[in-house]
Amino acid sequence: MTTTKSTALTDDDMDVMTLLHAAFRRDATRLAHVAQTYGTENDETHDALLVGWRGFSRELHHHHRIEDTHIWPLMRRKLADRPDDLAVLDDMEAEHSLIDPTLAALEEAFDDREHGPRQVPHRIDDLVALLQSHLAHEERDAFPLIKEVITAQEWQALSKAAVKELAYSDIAQLGPYVVEGATPEQARRVLSELPVPLRLVHRFWWNPRYRRVRRWE
Ligand SMILES: [Fe+2]
Repeated sequence: MTTTKSTALTDDDMDVMTLLHAAFRRDATRLAHVAQTYGTENDETHDALLVGWRGFSRELHHHHRIEDTHIWPLMRRKLADRPDDLAVLDDMEAEHSLIDPTLAALEEAFDDREHGPRQVPHRIDDLVALLQSHLAHEERDAFPLIKEVITAQEWQALSKAAVKELAYSDIAQLGPYVVEGATPEQARRVLSELPVPLRLVHRFWWNPRYRRVRRWE
């Protein structure tokens, strides 16, 4: 008889999640700075700002989609008889659906060179406020539930399935984005989840290219 060993999820297993949240906060701080100076930058700086903004916005979209299609559904099955905890997942989905339109509204304002300078600052304020409170809410109420009900094996399987759904070009951006603020040990752990050939591509191509590109400022 085969037995499947199931072990509890640890903080190390959740490295990608915590690094992504840290990256979103880092970019929220950059956006708050943009809100104060927007409209005074030259064209090259505007292009760099858009590179940073689009990278952030793309990663946030992917992250929410992975939570909404992989993480919350698995937890819903396990928490079926715990209405208070299911309400936390309802909140997570509701907060995601509030953030998405603010991303679209800000994208639109960045594209509009004529009226954008008037709209960008308050649209950034709206987005940053929603994002900060959502990240804090998720870490306070959803993270403990994730660790309680999802096993390390399930987490690994769902991470693999989620990465499989990404285009090659998305993985090429995600790796460098996640390790930007990581300690060497965290970067090693996170990258060890990639197959060896992709690890090498990350090291010698994706990451150097990501670091060469001017973004945000
Ligand atoms: Fe998250």
